[in-house]
Amino acid sequence: MPTDHQLCCIGCGRSAFPTAPDFRCAHCGELLEVVLPKPPAEAGTWPRRWRERRTSLAAEDISGVWRFREMLPAVGEPVSLREGNTPLYQLPGCGRRLGMTQLWAKHQGINPTGSFKDTGMTVALSQARTAGFRWVACASTGNTSASMAAYAARAGLGALVLVPAGQIAWGKLAQALDYGALTCQVQGDFDACMRTLNAVVRRSPVGLVNSVNPYRVEGQKTAVYELLEQLAWQPPDHIIVPGGNLANASAIGKGLREMRERGWITHLPKVSVVQALGASPLAAAWRANRGRELTPVHAETRATAIRIGNPASWRKAVRVLEETGGDCIAVSEAELAAAKAEIGAEGIGCEPASAAALAGLKQWLSQGWIRRDETVVLVLTGHLLKDADYTLDFHRGQMAVDAAAERLRRPPVEIPADAAAVLAQLEKAVQV
Ligand code: F0G
Repeated sequence: MPTDHQLCCIGCGRSAFPTAPDFRCAHCGELLEVVLPKPPAEAGTWPRRWRERRTSLAAEDISGVWRFREMLPAVGEPVSLREGNTPLYQLPGCGRRLGMTQLWAKHQGINPTGSFKDTGMTVALSQARTAGFRWVACASTGNTSASMAAYAARAGLGALVLVPAGQIAWGKLAQALDYGALTCQVQGDFDACMRTLNAVVRRSPVGLVNSVNPYRVEGQKTAVYELLEQLAWQPPDHIIVPGGNLANASAIGKGLREMRERGWITHLPKVSVVQALGASPLAAAWRANRGRELTPVHAETRATAIRIGNPASWRKAVRVLEETGGDCIAVSEAELAAAKAEIGAEGIGCEPASAAALAGLKQWLSQGWIRRDETVVLVLTGHLLKDADYTLDFHRGQMAVDAAAERLRRPPVEIPADAAAVLAQLEKAVQV
């Protein structure tokens, strides 16, 4: 059974029922988090139960989120699209180039709408429907809106989407339209969308399902439950995530903390965050003052998913970096493009923001902070097809990258309908 729970402020610790529409503490304005009750003595057997559910045909067991329902708040009947249960792939090619044997990718892009957002949205939409909302809303760089629109449709609720005009990948925009959302392209960036939406939820009874919504975080944390199950409950040395609004790093940290408190793992992996250089307020704050204060920036990067200058969940993320001994750095656009092509060449692929994890790993290896004999899991957050323009621009040579990445370019070639022309191309390719 999902559990009864409290919502508490991460700043002043106060309990927060009834909850404000923007999910902020009425006393100090900080974010809230779900606090679960102490587990019963039988909790030691839950990991076995979760695994057994993989052979069940019941809808709640088939979902890779609700399979872990003992660790989720009670929010009523699940609104599910069979999210979670994503693959953990080894990356032998990238590993070989980096001199590593234990390099893994947890591919959260293999979710129903193609990003990790689905794992959180199933919980948030279930909660919103139970709470009686008729409409849900989010500001988004694209994936949250795609996911929310899909889950709202399944729940029978209206979906209001605010996205920065011209700044999200068209694949994500198309999803929101297809799932029937009211989609507003706001003249401004993601941070402007967020500000606007906060004003809307104070004036209209729509349920906010941005990641400040603590129920989102609960669903997203199940990714590490699943990861640890896939690793036979042996924590890796490092988990690396791209960072935008910084909720995913927070969710992963919360999941790990709960696992250690309940004795399912004996120690915490280091959880580290990688931002795009043009959108890296946490990396700057971490370097300058260990994340005590964060100065918002004007964000610029082609990895539009993480083009965020004023991340809402930065305090939660700092706590995760501190608790796990992780680090936060920024990577350049060229590093991002190269890393994305390398993951693509493994036959896996991901969207640009996800590749930040590999780009960050490369920096940490060269600094010596991560060792080549360590076990590293990269969290790939979005599917390759989310942003096809980026991939085409890279392969057609419309992005500046270093010589090693140049060799990964595979521009399409136009030829006559003639076998000899194909064979000539094949010969050229074999020689490279
Ligand atoms: N990767 C992808 C593919 C994303 O879509 C996002 C965030 C992140 C990483 C960063 O995760 O915000 O939890 O640190 N996308 C949000 C959106 C902001 O609106 O889709 P975060």
